[in-house]
Amino acid sequence: MTTKLWGGRFTEAAEQWVDEFGASISFDKELVEEDLAGSIAHVTMLSKCGIITKEDSETIRGGLQTLLKKAQNGELEYKVDYEDIHLNLEKLLTDEVGPVGGKLHTARSRNDQVATDIHLYMKKQVSSFIEQINQLQTVLVSLAEEHVETILPGYTHLQRAQPVSFAHHIMAYFWMFQRDKERLSDSMKRIDLCPLGAGALAGTTFPIDRAFTAQLLGFEDIYQNSLDAVSDRDFLVEFCSNASLVMMHLSRFCEELILWSSQEFQFVEISDSFATGSSMMPQKKNPDMAELIRGKTGRVYGSLTSLLTVLKGLPLAYNKDMQEDKEPLFDAVTTLKGSLSIFTGMIESITVRQENMQKAVSSDFSNATELADYLVNKGIPFREAHEIVGKLVLACIQKNVYLLDLPFDEYLAASPCFEKDVFDVLQAKTVVSRRNSAGGTGFEAVRAALKIAKTKI
Ligand code: ARG
Repeated sequence: MTTKLWGGRFTEAAEQWVDEFGASISFDKELVEEDLAGSIAHVTMLSKCGIITKEDSETIRGGLQTLLKKAQNGELEYKVDYEDIHLNLEKLLTDEVGPVGGKLHTARSRNDQVATDIHLYMKKQVSSFIEQINQLQTVLVSLAEEHVETILPGYTHLQRAQPVSFAHHIMAYFWMFQRDKERLSDSMKRIDLCPLGAGALAGTTFPIDRAFTAQLLGFEDIYQNSLDAVSDRDFLVEFCSNASLVMMHLSRFCEELILWSSQEFQFVEISDSFATGSSMMPQKKNPDMAELIRGKTGRVYGSLTSLLTVLKGLPLAYNKDMQEDKEPLFDAVTTLKGSLSIFTGMIESITVRQENMQKAVSSDFSNATELADYLVNKGIPFREAHEIVGKLVLACIQKNVYLLDLPFDEYLAASPCFEKDVFDVLQAKTVVSRRNSAGGTGFEAVRAALKIAKTKI
């Protein structure tokens, strides 16, 4: 039985199985470097403010540095008896430097300590997610640049609608990820606040300097209310929400890759390294990674829901329930990291089956709107043009042909406004290239948008 660091007011020994239920060391050991950084800053501040002697501070700092090195080499051993990363490190510190290590926790509580750790952790993670999204956007831009004039059917209701540039389709995702990146950047101002010095909930009588500790840790500012400082987990909810949106965008993109790589579409081929075979069916090549990212999206939504649910009924200030914030958070971080990097590799190595896309747009009615617009340009009201073209499409369906196959006579019979140039207008390439309204799929519009996009990465 180990003596608890908080054991003074207890008469009965804790039981192992109860300790195990309450412990968080199995997962909060992830925060070891942040916790040590927080302690180093705290002890530096304590001596600067004359709360402990310079000498004690040096000894403690030395011990913490040793622990940091050991942590980086994977040499620290944690015990469930010491509950969490904070108490484990305090124990390891006193083993290292003796009872003076006990001075470290002056003017501090595990409540402001754990909050500081997760703020530091989130700062690091969010910057690296911004970087990962940037890399993905870079890959999307270069894929798009190669395919401004590659045309594929655009869909609404998963029915062929109008042909679009493949670059335009890819760049739609670029802008989704741009918003994700902006949301993550914006969240930084709420992450970049230091709770340390809030104590357990009420502040402290010691003449601490919170701004100094915050500055040592690289925080932009401090929390203005000690109760809020220790009980705020909004920034974790916000992160999981932002992560859910990134996953949702990845998942929609994956869904398209899964469709496009099917026998029915054959618009792209996923490279062998990101696909798998079947143990039974020798011909199979399955888009497993894309499916898995789509599936993992649910886990991240789950983390968001867990966090919101843990927090919803909590009175101020710290409650042990809050220990339940870490596993969902870490899971969301790991899942998002893996999904972004796999997705980036997968899209970077994709083969675009341009010919099949072209074949698809030449055997559908996605040029029908263009035909209606043609009549509008001849002075026919759009509603009437819509009706005329609708009848022509029906005639095609009855004959089992497409608009380009219909003899000119039939056009003339439908409206005297048709001229022979109608057949040029109906070419998918013409259809796409002419839609140059700002943000449209016309080649010029796509090139202009690409230029703007490149300034965002
Ligand atoms: N392991 C705890 C957590 O993750 C640390 C804070 C514990 N504070 C306390 N007063 N029990 O939330």
